[in-house]
Amino acid sequence: MITSIKNLEIIDIPKVQDPRGNLAFIEKDIIPFHINRVYYLYDVPSSAHRGGHAHKKLYQVLVALSGSFEVHLKDGENETKITLNKPDKGLLIVPGIWREIGNFSSGSVCLVLASEEYDESDYIRDYEDFKLFKRT
Ligand code: TYD
Repeated sequence: MITSIKNLEIIDIPKVQDPRGNLAFIEKDIIPFHINRVYYLYDVPSSAHRGGHAHKKLYQVLVALSGSFEVHLKDGENETKITLNKPDKGLLIVPGIWREIGNFSSGSVCLVLASEEYDESDYIRDYEDFKLFKRT
């Protein structure tokens, strides 16, 4: 699949700043796909690694609602690491990108907006399979 880490984007999530606390909002025009699922990772031990897979069709946006974590991304040729630590920044991950998430800070919450409902057949969980997928 012809996607690369160049297709990754940081999306600015609009916010209303207020001395009483900030308010961020996600409306349909902010996310470049229709959201069909929302899930979140929480109570993640700092030593844990999440992800370790790619998706064939799924688009996702990751937001550090609280705390911070690192997202390691690979497209089969190049790789990059993005630290998410702001509730008003979303990381767009396109299909065909291998991701591993780690270094979760205590109390961090990773919100995920997803373009499809959960479907195990959309996952590529073996890195060798991922490399083959990228060649097709
Ligand atoms: P997985 O996507 O592998 O988690 P992560 O990438 O964060 O490490 O999912 C872990 C388990 O949770 C797996 O058994 C599938 C299940 N799951 C659902 O049932 N629904 C979902 O929406 C998601 C994301 C996972």
